[in-house]
Amino acid sequence: MTIGIHDISAATGSLVFALADLAEHEGIDVGKYHRGIGQTEMSLTAEDEDIVTMAARAAAPIIERHGTEGLRTVIFATESGIDQSKAASVFLHRLLGLPRAVRVVEVKEACYSATAAIQFALGIVARRADERVLVIASDVARYELNSSGEATQGAGAVAMLISENPAVLEIEPVSGVWTDDVWDFWRPNDRSTALVDGRYSVQVYLESLEGAWNDYRAHGGADFSSFARVCYHQPFTRMAVKGQQRLARIADPDGESTDIDRLADTVEYNSRIGNSYTASIYLAFLSLLDNGPDLSAERIGFFSYGSGAVGEFFGGVLVPGYKSQLRTEELQNMLAARRPIGYDEYRHRHIAYDRVGDFETADETHGDVRFAGVEQHKRLYEAR
Ligand code: HMG
Repeated sequence: MTIGIHDISAATGSLVFALADLAEHEGIDVGKYHRGIGQTEMSLTAEDEDIVTMAARAAAPIIERHGTEGLRTVIFATESGIDQSKAASVFLHRLLGLPRAVRVVEVKEACYSATAAIQFALGIVARRADERVLVIASDVARYELNSSGEATQGAGAVAMLISENPAVLEIEPVSGVWTDDVWDFWRPNDRSTALVDGRYSVQVYLESLEGAWNDYRAHGGADFSSFARVCYHQPFTRMAVKGQQRLARIADPDGESTDIDRLADTVEYNSRIGNSYTASIYLAFLSLLDNGPDLSAERIGFFSYGSGAVGEFFGGVLVPGYKSQLRTEELQNMLAARRPIGYDEYRHRHIAYDRVGDFETADETHGDVRFAGVEQHKRLYEAR
């Protein structure tokens, strides 16, 4: 029995801000952003968008193609939750028109939790092969204005259907895992922006990669040289380069895996969307599928990292014919349709983000579902 990703689809915010604009206003060389961290743009959410609307936009094409047969679980991974109690997937359940006989839940561990969600989904399908699980990763990444993380903000969602006999990726059973209680990045309950010890976070990411890789090998994981590509969590795309260099040094010192050109197809979307936290590594995967050569039957590695901190390394094999399952044009059109905003509007929106009390939102999103506002502390969503 093979289990893995049967379908995958993504969405992003309806607005875009160019890092060239940010650099100009900061009076710094844009090379620091374009080459130094490997980012050109960041996606931002419109006033009537959030993690739920992006998730609905990502998941709707999957439900449209496969229906709801066998779908009994939705796992929503996020670290930018919109309620301390009610799972974001409850809102999504209604917006997607899912049947009552579906369990839904939200999971959290910084950027890592979509990988945990996939592992849980694999377990459900291994126990009941007739069931399918919808895994959602959706986040809005926000840092304070004028902070080191500001240039790495972004917004995006990826939806994946996990099933038996998958059409895209067969996930192999071996995983390497790593956890340590550290303060590299966190967001206390009273803040909508994250706090970060930036340089330290880079160091912990790399330690976690090494730890997860060693655990993967200790549990019978494949040789590094057998991976056609590795998809890394990309808080900014240069981080993938640092990851590949570290892994090649410890796992394949004499091989060709240090060749960072092999990462090029995995960074295309993230360099234009920015950090999408839980969705970031799966956007890297989708970027490879959409923009890379046909890698049918090749092994792909995944390194998932969440600050705090948890890391996991696992592999999967691309199913021959996977290219026919993709919606490349749709995502590229969505990226092209984002409305560019200038520096003043960007800052204004950043400050206005934390609205409290009751309010109505302006009609701005390009998606079919919108966040209409808050009434008596209840978030309202509507389909167009
Ligand atoms: P910084 O400290 O301002 O930047 O921000 P820097 O001075 O380290 O420069 C960055 C790179 O640009 C350097 O290259 C410079 O040399 C280069 P490196 O030494 O790294 O190879 N550079 C230039 N290159 C070309 N032309 C130029 C130029 N100027 C400089 N003119 C920092 C960097 C990572 C600290 C910042 O972006 C930050 O705080 N980011 C947020 C935290 C983060 O993304 N951490 C990553 C690991 S933690 C993680 O992945 C988890 C996370 O996703 C959250 C979660 O799990 O939920 C964040």
